[in-house]
Amino acid sequence: TAGGAAPSVGQSAVQDSDFLRAARREPVSHTPVWFMRQAGRALPEYRKVRAGIPMLESCTRPDLVTEITLQPVRRYGVDAAVFFSDIMVPLKAIGVDLEIVPDVGPVIANPVRDASGLEQVRPLDPEADLGFVTEAVRQLVGELGATPLIGFGGAPFTVASYLIEGGPSKNHEKTKAMMHGAPELFAALLDRLADLTAGFLKVQIEAGASVVQLFDSWVGALSPRDYQRYVMPHSTKVLDAVAGLGVPRIHFGVGTGELLPLMAAAGADVVGVDWRVPLDEASRRIGPEFAVQGNLDPAVVFAPWPVIEARVREILADGAKTPGHIFNLGHGVLPEMDPDVLTRIVELVHEASAR
Ligand code: CP3
Repeated sequence: TAGGAAPSVGQSAVQDSDFLRAARREPVSHTPVWFMRQAGRALPEYRKVRAGIPMLESCTRPDLVTEITLQPVRRYGVDAAVFFSDIMVPLKAIGVDLEIVPDVGPVIANPVRDASGLEQVRPLDPEADLGFVTEAVRQLVGELGATPLIGFGGAPFTVASYLIEGGPSKNHEKTKAMMHGAPELFAALLDRLADLTAGFLKVQIEAGASVVQLFDSWVGALSPRDYQRYVMPHSTKVLDAVAGLGVPRIHFGVGTGELLPLMAAAGADVVGVDWRVPLDEASRRIGPEFAVQGNLDPAVVFAPWPVIEARVREILADGAKTPGHIFNLGHGVLPEMDPDVLTRIVELVHEASAR
């Protein structure tokens, strides 16, 4: 990749890992597994190192980012690390006034409601704005050896929903009001956010991330028609910007059963599926050109072990009917989860899928 170091032995081992093989729809020795939000409050060792440090500040400290990213790899034995950061970090890096408030989520000081609000989203200068990301990713890739590092970013719609609403939202009223009532302003905002996220992803890839995930967590709020008309072109712009860099692209959202074919067509290699659609059905909807990722209902992690075990085996059986399967939850790890149960799930996935 541009600006990258010469490929090392570590990188060829990464390319040959079951994780990247599954993403490329090649045969694997076992189904790879990781958990969205695997680095975080479910882990006592995370709560310890984060104590007293605000979320967005912790993302700017490469040593802390490295430690937190490695914690779930050590603890759970997952097949990939996910870069510890947040979908809001690039906005903060270009100077947007925002915080991540504990137990609330991102809160924006001056929500975008008109053309003047748009000016907050200035172009990214990758080197000046995201040097701390480059430093952390390089450090991590050195420590991870044969374990792939997943880079990520927020899709334009999901990031826009925070910027427009001013914080987390259930029904996304203000976002949809702008989408329908001021479509040119909405398009201009999503276009700027597409460039911002593309820049964030490229920085991670150039520093050594070997796969990326685009999170469109809240896009399931849209109908397929509105998705196609108002959102898909901008997500396509992000995914196209990182096509040809040699890293598989995972595209994920929640409640997206009806959007899966469009999210695949936007430029994914792997489509993330929540727990509402069985993986073999998801694969039928998107076609044989894509691997799938998912999809244990996070709430099942709180059920008795025999229930969890049965569900994991069902998902592996569904996944075996697809061209490639990466095991995950259908959405992120919750702070109340028992880390030992997550470890047991990883062991079960590996044992039960061994070929
Ligand atoms: O997955 C990982 O382990 C890597 C790190 C990661 C974080 N956020 C760290 C984080 C990733 C991939 C994200 C993505 C993210 N951030 C998404 C998409 C994923 C999803 O869950 O749908 C979204 C919507 C955000 C925005 C955001 N940031 C929310 C909704 C929250 C939670 C608010 C809360 O406290 O419940 C955050 C904060 C955040 N991002 C935390 C972590 C570990 C918790 C902060 C803390 O520890 O105090």
